[in-house]
This record gives sequence, C-alpha cells and structure tokens, in this order.
Amino acid sequence: MIVCVCKSVSDRKIRASIAEGMDSFDDLQFELGVATCCGKCEETVREVMAQSGACGSGCCGGAQKRLASAAPATTLVPVYEPQAA
Ligand code: FES
Repeated sequence: MIVCVCKSVSDRKIRASIAEGMDSFDDLQFELGVATCCGKCEETVREVMAQSGACGSGCCGGAQKRLASAAPATTLVPVYEPQAA
C-alpha cells in the first residue's frame, strides 16, 4: 500500500527501512522523504512504525524492536509474600 502519495513510498519500503535500522521518524523522513510535502501521511507512517516495533524517537537505537523480537511471549505472574501477623 502506498503510504506517502507525494513521494511514492509504500508501507513495505518503510518496513524494510526500519528493518535496516531506521528506527526514528526523523530517519524515515530524511531517507525516504515521507511527510516532507503535504504531511498527510505522517500519522500512517507512525502507525507502520509502531506495527514494526520502532519506538519512533530513535533514542533507544532500536532496542525496543530487538527486545520485542528476541523475547519469548511470557505471562507475568504476581508474587505475593505472606505478611507477618
Ligand atoms: S502524502 Fe506524504 S508528504 Fe504528502
């Protein structure tokens, strides 16, 4: 699907760029040109980023995405300690 009509950028291209390490909106905007013309695609670009595990800020260097792909699905179980009466 074409996400950015102005620059002819598809969601596949965005996902491929994220997989190559572009994990911030600014990186995608600079490299692909998304949201640099009319700007109407910004929300959709950010949605594609969220679906792909990119945090969007670039502050973690893709750590969030790496953790999401490496961590097995787990269920957190609360641990209660008995309280002294
Ligand atoms: S649709 Fe992306 S800048 Fe216009």
